[in-house]
Amino acid sequence: MGAGAWCWSVIVGVLVLKAALFVVVDGGSTSSFVRKVEKTIDMPMDSDVFTTPPGYNAPQQVHITQGDHVGKAMIVSWVTMDEPGSNTVRYWSANSKRKRNAEGTLTRYSFFNYTSGFIHHCNLTHLKHDTKYYYMVGIGYTTRTFWFTTPPEVGPDVPYTFGLIGDLGQSYDSNITLSHYEMNPVKGQTVLFVGDISYADNYPNHDNRRWDSWGRFAERSTAYQPWIWTAGNHELDYAPEIGEDEPFKPFTHRFPVPYKSSGSNAPFWYSIKRASAHIIVLASYSAYGKYTPQYKWLEEELPKVNRTETPWLIVLLHAPWYNSYNYHYMEGESMRVMYEAWFVKYKVDVVFAGHVHAYERTERVSNIAYNIVNGICKPVKDQSAPVYITIGDGGNLEGLATNMTEPQPEYSAFRESSFGHATFDIKNRTHAFYGWHRNQDGVAVTGDTMWFYNRYWKPEDESKSV
Ligand SMILES: *[C@@H]1O[C@H](CO)[C@@H](O)[C@H](O)[C@H]1NC(C)=O
Ligand SMILES: *[C@@H]1O[C@H](CO)[C@@H](O)[C@H](O)[C@H]1NC(C)=O
Ligand SMILES: *[C@@H]1O[C@H](CO)[C@@H](O)[C@H](O)[C@H]1NC(C)=O
Ligand SMILES: *[C@@H]1O[C@H](CO)[C@@H](O)[C@H](O)[C@H]1NC(C)=O
Ligand SMILES: *[C@@H]1O[C@H](CO)[C@@H](O)[C@H](O)[C@H]1NC(C)=O
Ligand SMILES: *[C@@H]1O[C@H](CO)[C@@H](O)[C@H](O)[C@H]1NC(C)=O
Ligand SMILES: [Fe+2]
Repeated sequence: MGAGAWCWSVIVGVLVLKAALFVVVDGGSTSSFVRKVEKTIDMPMDSDVFTTPPGYNAPQQVHITQGDHVGKAMIVSWVTMDEPGSNTVRYWSANSKRKRNAEGTLTRYSFFNYTSGFIHHCNLTHLKHDTKYYYMVGIGYTTRTFWFTTPPEVGPDVPYTFGLIGDLGQSYDSNITLSHYEMNPVKGQTVLFVGDISYADNYPNHDNRRWDSWGRFAERSTAYQPWIWTAGNHELDYAPEIGEDEPFKPFTHRFPVPYKSSGSNAPFWYSIKRASAHIIVLASYSAYGKYTPQYKWLEEELPKVNRTETPWLIVLLHAPWYNSYNYHYMEGESMRVMYEAWFVKYKVDVVFAGHVHAYERTERVSNIAYNIVNGICKPVKDQSAPVYITIGDGGNLEGLATNMTEPQPEYSAFRESSFGHATFDIKNRTHAFYGWHRNQDGVAVTGDTMWFYNRYWKPEDESKSV
């Protein structure tokens, strides 16, 4: 137990005396912070955050994501509602007057009785690293201009700050989470999104207008920095009862990802390199058993990770492998059984998951010794293992997960049932500072922190440094 965790135990202990609210356990700590239980409701369609931009055929729902494997391309996506309009993106670097045009593609889909607007995707290529670019969409009618900064060239000591958001949805709480992420003094440069985007599928017939409203809501962030997409169960949209049996239809039409650049054959598992990190995105809702495409891809991908070039190995997936809440309990278990030994062998630094609408961070543990007959099936401390972080606390309409398993398992270092977000702030090849923020606090306050030591360059026990 680290000093931070010890400190929490003391605070928790005091509270137990005072209010008998919490139990101190031999595992980590369960936060003493109790969020007032309020209903989590979606913002109504006429909310300010869903406003359609003015002007004929004005581009809306603008979002960007990395377009290639190393961060020299960016995919720009937007939707027009009145007519197809132009697929062109005009873009220029902040320190040059020379404007370039890139040509994109157009797609549409229908879902039950909904027909989407005109969805545009355009891959801006041959970008310079570490450069601010402006880009304009909507050429021909109403134009809108945004900007982004490309990442520095991939390399071992390149500092870079990732934001972590999961299960965001479009409730009042979602808006608070996004606002806190934007105002966090630790400035995230790219969001690693761990799945469950709009929750449109919670509406009758999966009312896809809620995909559009989500796009307008999140644009204030997604248009200016890339969000790296992971598919969650709310992206599945499998609804044969209303004639919709193509899984992931809205997601794949709206959120392109650069899966081909990492040799993947489906947009649900892929990797990117960004600054000093190698990020692997896995699919909890695509086949992952032995011989499946995802299995073969991951088996080939892990040995390719070059820790001299990208020291930090980060995995994103939706359904957590270690989760001590009484929600979605063991849903990630079969994937853990398939892949956990690889994560230990290849010394993954950290695994971020969502799905459970709460926050939890584990110790470095593994549970890979079991072979059906030997009975060795308990998680054990393991310095080659990743830290598992559940960050599914973006604030969607389904509300918080509050019911925890008791006692707190030993593998669980810290857990709290509050909405929030986190940042993973890479300093160099050995150190990264991680901080989780709950929505109830001021934007600079951290509710849980940890100094990560890189598993390849500094495989020491971090708990002494927390
Ligand atoms: C789709 O169907 C629902 C339920 O029958 C109905 O309320 C809605 O108006 C329909 N939408 C369109 C665009 O026809
Ligand atoms: C969402 O948050 C933004 C920024 O804090 C605020 O301006 C806006 O009024 C909020 N909207 C709703 C519906 O809560
Ligand atoms: C974007 O362009 C880059 C550079 O040409 C290419 O490597 C990448 O595959 C493209 N991405 C997509 C999604 O088409
Ligand atoms: C790993 O990356 C380093 C630094 O870019 C490079 O010198 C080395 O050749 C790479 N190793 C392999 C096996 O590609
Ligand atoms: C918490 O979950 C457990 C296991 O599902 C259940 O037995 C218990 O009743 C739940 N407690 C509350 C307060 O809902
Ligand atoms: C890496 O960053 C940490 C934290 O900022 C710092 O203490 C350490 O000295 C840095 N290492 C090098 C080699 O600069
Ligand atoms: Fe989920």
